[in-house]
Amino acid sequence: MALEIDLAGKRALVTGAGQGVGRAIACALGEAGATVFVNDVVESRMDEAVEEVRRRGGRSQGMPFDVTDWTQVQASINGADGLDILINNAGNAGTEGFADLRPFVETQPDEWDRFIRVNLYGVMNCTRAALPGMITRTEGRIVTIVSDAARYGDAYIAPYAGAKAGAAGFCRSIAREVGRYGITVNCVALGTVRTPTTTREGDPAPESQKSDETLKRYIIRRRGEPEDAAGLVAFLASPMASWITGQTYPVNGGYTLSL
Ligand SMILES: NC(=O)c1ccc[n+]([C@@H]2O[C@H](COP(=O)([O-])OP(=O)(O)OC[C@H]3O[C@@H](n4cnc5c(N)ncnc54)[C@H](O)[C@@H]3O)[C@@H](O)[C@H]2O)c1
Repeated sequence: MALEIDLAGKRALVTGAGQGVGRAIACALGEAGATVFVNDVVESRMDEAVEEVRRRGGRSQGMPFDVTDWTQVQASINGADGLDILINNAGNAGTEGFADLRPFVETQPDEWDRFIRVNLYGVMNCTRAALPGMITRTEGRIVTIVSDAARYGDAYIAPYAGAKAGAAGFCRSIAREVGRYGITVNCVALGTVRTPTTTREGDPAPESQKSDETLKRYIIRRRGEPEDAAGLVAFLASPMASWITGQTYPVNGGYTLSL
């Protein structure tokens, strides 16, 4: 086996790929030879990402849908005529943002939905829709993007952390169900990665000027970049990772080791 990530002939869907981590993953899969379906609920972002994958030499087309809407998910994925690779990336606080985070005890149940819908139901919807084709072809790769918060907790985003931990537990269970069909299911747990959601728009400050306490916890003294996640995801999606399943891999500059 040549030691390169070769996804030629594979059809991959990356959810929430209009920006940030998902966009970097879409580009990496495209560069590795996959045909990439770029999903985003914000179509202008999706179109830009499709263009970027193509500019970088990949094959790509947009697949607009809301991962929290089972009817849309099922119709879109069924229409794709078979996926080999599903990357469940859409997450964070969905389209509503992380604004207004407060101690859990000050929140109301209707505020938790936005985290659970996208980070847990979104993963379940897309996985449910993608699996039948993978089972028929006895081959498939599913990678779900979770968070350090799922493994170690994080104050003021408990509903998010709970939804991500739920997604990781869901993926481990699905891994057990579908391993017999040659399908692997893994998670990648990120530390803080610089994306439009985690940085103020237009903030030009280089990492070296950010001397907050959090940064000191990273053994590699910087926050992550979307590309830091994309390489591992592309590997887990490849034939080289055919005996790796049911795992959650941290990509966090050593943050959790230093806790
Ligand atoms: N950035 C980080 O620091 C960090 C840390 C840990 C985990 N993560 C996880 O990594 C993933 C990507 O993070 P990011 O910061 O790049 O995200 P982001 O918020 O910058 O981008 C996510 C994209 O998903 C789209 N999206 C939101 N809800 C959607 C829905 N219901 N259906 C379809 N698309 C939808 C958004 O329009 C957006 O383009 C998320 O699952 C996030 O929870 C990120």
